[in-house]
Parts: sequence; structure tokens; C-alpha cells
Amino acid sequence: MEQNKLQELLLDMSLKEKVGQLVQVSGFYFEEEGVLTGPENTVGFTQEEIDLAGTVLGSIGAERLRMIQKKFMERHPHHIPLIFMLDIINGYRTVFPIPLAQSCSFDPALAKRCASIAAKEAAAAGAHVTFSPMVDVARDARWGRVMESGGEDPFLNGCFARACVEGYQGKKGADGSADLAAKGKIGSCVKHFAAYGAPEAGREYNTVELSERTLRDTYLPPYREAVDAGASMVMASFNTLNRVPSAANKRLMREILRKEMGFGGVTISDWAAFDELMYHGLAGNRKEAAYLAVEAGMDIDMMTSCYSKNLEQLVREGCVDEALLDEAVMRVLELKNALGLFENPFKDADELEEKEILLCDEHRKAARCAAAETFVLLKNEGILPLKREGQKVAFIGPHVENKSIFGVWSMFGREEDTVSIADALRQRGIQTITAKGCAMFDNGRGLEGESGLDIDQMDEKAQRLLEEAVEAAESADAVVLALGEHRLLSGEAASRAQITIPECQRRLLLAVQEVNPNVVVVLFSGRPLDIRELSERAKAVLNVWQPGTEGGNAILDVLYGDTNPSGKLSMSFPWCVGQVPVCYSELSTGRPYMPGRIYKFQSQYLDIPNRPLYPFGFGMSYTDFYISEAVASDSVMTRKKPITVSVTVKNTGNVKGAEVVQLYIRDCVASVARPVRELKGFQKVWLEPGEEREVSFSVTEEMLRFTGADMEYASENGRFCAYVGNSSETQNEVRFELKN
Ligand code: GLC
Repeated sequence: MEQNKLQELLLDMSLKEKVGQLVQVSGFYFEEEGVLTGPENTVGFTQEEIDLAGTVLGSIGAERLRMIQKKFMERHPHHIPLIFMLDIINGYRTVFPIPLAQSCSFDPALAKRCASIAAKEAAAAGAHVTFSPMVDVARDARWGRVMESGGEDPFLNGCFARACVEGYQGKKGADGSADLAAKGKIGSCVKHFAAYGAPEAGREYNTVELSERTLRDTYLPPYREAVDAGASMVMASFNTLNRVPSAANKRLMREILRKEMGFGGVTISDWAAFDELMYHGLAGNRKEAAYLAVEAGMDIDMMTSCYSKNLEQLVREGCVDEALLDEAVMRVLELKNALGLFENPFKDADELEEKEILLCDEHRKAARCAAAETFVLLKNEGILPLKREGQKVAFIGPHVENKSIFGVWSMFGREEDTVSIADALRQRGIQTITAKGCAMFDNGRGLEGESGLDIDQMDEKAQRLLEEAVEAAESADAVVLALGEHRLLSGEAASRAQITIPECQRRLLLAVQEVNPNVVVVLFSGRPLDIRELSERAKAVLNVWQPGTEGGNAILDVLYGDTNPSGKLSMSFPWCVGQVPVCYSELSTGRPYMPGRIYKFQSQYLDIPNRPLYPFGFGMSYTDFYISEAVASDSVMTRKKPITVSVTVKNTGNVKGAEVVQLYIRDCVASVARPVRELKGFQKVWLEPGEEREVSFSVTEEMLRFTGADMEYASENGRFCAYVGNSSETQNEVRFELKN
């Protein structure tokens, strides 16, 4: 529809209709199977409010959405189509690894492929927009939603944010916007703006207290990347920033997001966040909440009646300028127009296509390759890869048969479609011994038929499982222990103060390792865990996160060496939870810890080391790589003359593999304290045995910019160090200077 026609439509709409466009209701109101996400809420929408809604969340299915759209438009006074939005976080029916795992691939193209397939499947099922990617920098493993993020680093998060937005929407065209009406594309709603990933104490929905500089230099960059990539929507976060919740934070939503970042799309609250303005103590009632939100620049009210029951009155009373309302409504109409919904309100919803492409072989293959590339080999004392012949392996643990390995935000992933480790073993006809060994959870949940057991029977059953596992371990040459978090132990409202594996699994590890030291732990998790003891006792640790639909196949591909692991940690594994939040790009402090220096008065603990158990950027391979000394093309760079920093990488082992060469930069002296190093580039290179390749990074002045003492975003002349290596702990250093 031409812009002028949109204007005419807006002019012709009643005030009530305009308000309706800013109301998002759950699909629940249009059908019985809608998926209610976020806090339950008794909203009390009237039928009239539902009939005038602008968007719907949580419903999916081509037939269902076509039916809802058709009936809705027939009833709507101007027959304005709904936008169907929902959470497609790491895949729709074909489920990919959780986003935290995907970021460990250090391969944004992988995330783009996953997002593109997710968009195709969801679009065929009738979806128009996904509430993804989540790009909250996450440095606190206690917080459950680290599983949705791209980890602890702003630059890496930004690379994956861009990749996901382009995967969902396609690349921006010359006009600066993506072709959302194109087949198999859906709009991307980046979230949660801003800094939701820094809750105090890692406790979900808790307060966020950040300096302006930390907000700008650490937490905003990935959102900026997503907006620059053309994200259609931005979801405001639940948390306060500077004591103001995002949904009422005019400075954040209008000054920073719209003016500074140039975002012209639609903003939406998180679930019931307008109501939460009352609980935060900013609004005395829903009318005040509506006023604060619309003034702050919030377009869509997700699942509260604040807008639907108050906005019309606020305009009529002159409290809210109707022009403000019109701006928000026009943005929603423009999004519907960009999606092509005025011409084709059903967009790609197609039952035949839905049946054909969901879980098709091509998508399964992509899920299997992606999963294998996200695994991080944390330890390997020569026990991996396993031998195909002449080695008896016992697969033990509650995750061997577990098919619920697709992450907590995969509401549309199904266990029956998912390949567990046991399924993969059976599919390959690998003769092996399996044993569950223990329940999935400490309270016994996960034991077959546990509901009908009393405590004594539970204990007896647990003891029997343990004995069976020990027997299996004794009879094998090696043991693969599949342990770790169930998917329900991470995600939203799943903060954990103790980030260890369940005690029952720990007992299993000790019992098995006592009779057979050749233990490989396959670790499932939605967050970095405290795995000191596990890591000490196992001869190998492969972290597989929550690997998705093809997880079992991908795990066996790596365990048996069909695929060489290449993942690198995008989030540090802490020494213990007391170290959290821990991050490689910390500030030096005035008394920096000097390894090896025995001196009390330096920044350290009495009881644990400063360094994490496994650092950001770390991950092993089945082959070895040599990285030469870093060389700079010049020791002086200017704003106009970048320098190049290079190394040569060689595969010195005997199998093909990938190394992720990482570039970190330190600003040695500046107007404010700067991190001891920051990731500024990475290149993943696949090399045949014996093959070597030069890897070069262009170091530009833009890379050196930060928010200085004057709060201006700029670089400052002076001395810098560049580090190039295969983890954030590399000491392969080259120095240079920035001059005018
Ligand atoms: C949830 C989440 C958000 C999600 C929304 C809609 O509470 O915070 O990430 O997109 O509700 O499901």
C-alpha cells in the first residue's frame, strides 16, 4: 500500500481503532491452544478490545492463523490485518542449538543459516515476526537467560545479532530496509532493550545498576548492530536502568534508541511490563502506566489493558497528544505494510508447504552440522575421539535417553522429533551398553514412574540405577557420562545460586570414575557451570549445551571423530559461583593481580584464583595448531592509516580442523580506565593436516573508540597492545601507537 494510502487509513480510523493497533493480545483469545509465555496475567480484555487488537502473540499453524486472520478482518471496521508474533528463538520445528551455543561456534554464518531456516518454517506456519534475537550481553552464569544470549562479549554478541536479523529478514536493501514481504522471511524483534543481562546477583527480573559508560560501551553495542542490520522491532526490557524501567524510560527509548541509534521501527513492551510499572512503584495505576509508556515511546502494549482501557481517555483529556498516538499507530501500520499484509494478510501461511519443509532432511542436516560446530571440547587427555572398533564403550547418565535437549525457549520443538544419544546409537547400530545411572534431578524427578514411588522406593530405585551403572562401567573400556542441566534449569525465571550439576549426577560420576577412570563427560547445560570436580575426574569434557533436534547425532559425530570439535567459549566457565560475574575483559584495577607474585595487597581472593576454570575464547580440537608471533605492518597508525596485524596458523596435527584466531586490543593509557583487553576480531580457519595460512586483521581507528571522560565516543592517541591467539588468555602481543 502506498504511504499516502496509509495516511488516509490513519485519518479515517476512530480513536478507539487507533488505540487497538497498539494492543497485543495472546492468541489464546482466538483459540484454545495459544501458548501463554511470560508471567500469567488476568488482563480482562473486552471482546471489543480483542476485535480491535493490532497484533497477536503465541499462536502458530498455517490453518489456524489463516482462520483467525480471516475471521478477524471480517469483523474489523477497516479490515486491518493482524501481525502474528511469537518466540522463535533457536528454531521453529527444526530446533537448533541454543543461542549461547551458537555463539560458541564463532561462526555468524552458522547463526544466519539457522535463523533463515527458522524463518522459512515459521513463515510457512503463519508467523510474521519473531521475538528474536536476544542480544543481552551476559556475564553472570547464575542468570538463567544466558542461554539465549551470545555470551559475555559485546563484539561477538553484535556479530551474532546482525547474523540473526539478516537470517530472519534478509539483508537490508539500498533503501535501508529488508524485504519483509519476501517469501520465507519474518520480521525480527531484537530484545531486551536494554541491559537485561546484568541483573544484580544474577537474580531474574532484578535491578540493573550500570554506569552510563558501561551501558554504552558494553551493553548497547549488540542492539546497535541489530538496529543497523534493519531489525523491524525492539522489545523493551523488564529491568530498571538508573532506577527507571525501560517501558517508561524516555531517555532510553526516545533519546538513545530512536535519536542516537536512528531506530524507526516499532517498539513493544515485554510481557505485561506496563503493569509492572505499578510494581516498580512508578505508576499508581494502569492509567498512569499508560501515560508513562506512551510518553516514553512505547508503541505496543504486550498483554496488559493499560493502553486498551486508558489511552483513548488520556488523549480525550489532552494528557497525551494525539500526534504521539498517531506516530505509534503509523509505525505499526508501516510494519504491516512492509510485511505485505494489506495485499496478502496470510503472507506465507501454507499448510502444504508447512508439511513439506518442517523437519525436512535439509533442515535436519543443517541442525546436525550446526550442533556439532557449537560444542566446546574443554578437556581431552587423549581419550577422544573414541575408537569405532575394538573399544567397548558404556553410555551412562540421565541424558543418554533424554530427548528434551532443545533448550527452554523451543516451545514448538518436540521430543518425538529429537534424536537423543541413545537414538543415535541405535540408528548407527553401535553395540554398546547404556545405563541411566540416576535421576535427572535431585528430587528424583526423571525416574520412571517416580510419581508412584514413596521415599523409600525412590531411594531403592536410585540405588539400583547406580549399581547398574557401576556394573556397566566395570565391563567397559571407556565410559561416556551424559550429565548436566535439564533444559528447564535455564531460561527465563531460572536463575540458580548454585551452578553445579545435580548431586545425584555427581554421585554417579564418582561411583563410575572409581571403577573406570576412562571417563568422557558429555555436559549438557544452558549456562557455564561450576565443573571443577567433574573436570578433574574426567579424562575429557565435551560441552554440548542444549544441542537441539539433531543433538544425539551431532554428539556421536564428534565423539567418534566424524566431526572435529571447533567451538570456543563465548562465556567463561567460572572457577566457582563465588567468582561470578567473571569476564575476560575486566578492568586492571589499581592493584592488578600478578600471577606468581606472592603479595597480599593485590586484587585477588584468599581462597580461589582470579582466572576462570575455562576462559572466554577457549576450546580444544582433535588436532593441534601453531600460531606464529604476531606481526604489525607498522608500529604507528593514524585515523586515516590503519595497520594490519598478522599471524600464520598451521595445522600441526593429523586431522582436519578449525582454529578460531582471535584479535584482542588493549588501550594502555586513556582518559578513563579501559579493559585489559577487548575482542575486536576473529577468523575461523579450517586447515588440512600440515596446511598453513596467514590470518590478518586490519586494525582501524573505529575499533579503538570508547566513551571517554567527556562522554564522547571517540579514540584517543596513545599506546595500544594487540593480542592474537586462540583464547582470551593469549600473550602473543604486538604493540603500536595511534597518532594524529
Ligand atoms: C517473556 C520474555 C520475552 C518474550 C515474551 C513473549 O516474558 O521476557 O523474551 O519474548 O515474554 O513471549
